Amino acid sequence: MIADPRLKTWLVALEARHMANLTRREFTRAVRALSARYVERRTQLSDRSPLDSAGKRAAFALFYAPVHLLTTREAMAHLGIRTDLASLVDLGCGTGVCSAAWALLHEIPPSITGVDTHPWALEEARWNWRTLGLRGQTTRGDLVAAARTLLKQSDAVLARTGVIAGWSINELPKPERAQLLDTIDHLVGRGVTLVILEPLARGVTPWWDEWVERLAPHEVLACDVKGEAGLPPPLDSFSDAAGFRNKLLGARVMAIRFNDSLRSEG
Ligand SMILES: C[S@@+](CC[C@H](N)C(=O)[O-])C[C@H]1O[C@@H](n2cnc3c(N)ncnc32)[C@H](O)[C@@H]1O
Repeated sequence: MIADPRLKTWLVALEARHMANLTRREFTRAVRALSARYVERRTQLSDRSPLDSAGKRAAFALFYAPVHLLTTREAMAHLGIRTDLASLVDLGCGTGVCSAAWALLHEIPPSITGVDTHPWALEEARWNWRTLGLRGQTTRGDLVAAARTLLKQSDAVLARTGVIAGWSINELPKPERAQLLDTIDHLVGRGVTLVILEPLARGVTPWWDEWVERLAPHEVLACDVKGEAGLPPPLDSFSDAAGFRNKLLGARVMAIRFNDSLRSEG
């Protein structure tokens, strides 16, 4: 299922990195515990980091991160998103896998800037990009402020910039999310290519329709993307061991492309 040799090599390195100090049993227990944090105890996310143990960090890096990378890649290919950009900004980058998926689809990989509040995730993002042969730097800080800072760039730069937020906007409090929508509306109006991914579960994104309506003048494309192939090894066996029933990749996606403006720039 994984044709790109860079991804195969990365998965092997990732497994060696994160299973070194854990048994398989400890790891699958951590995968389940992290899932419970995001699903059953998600109201506590802002008070207590879901990455508060070595096991959960390993589960995030070795299970959820590759699943997000493969889902993003599937969504990008499905939507035909632009892959000729000079730079990508990954808002709430975590381990940097969403921007990595996008960058790997470029013939000339763009430089990546990842923004997150979590120092461990940022270090992991740098390792992931390096291992995948990509160029990336990180900024520790608030993604809403980072998006606002992008407005200082020229239109020419923004027309060659992609902004991606994968599974991160649902973690923002309502007022910050509203500010981000204003900023994103301005950024895409000035030429930014945008991709937002969130879980398929509707309850996590009550704001989705409002965002789609607001971004409709920019010809936003919104859909559910569901992969047809199952998870590749070793993710399939982790998923089995953790007792998850759904083995398919999937996400709600919102995207804005600017192929025409690129063409008119010549
Ligand atoms: C579920 S994780 C997704 C990470 C990554 N994008 C992925 O798809 O694997 C959400 C990430 O958003 C980050 N995050 C949440 N609120 C944030 C904020 N206000 N500013 C920066 N990062 C934030 C968290 O630290 C976490 O790494």
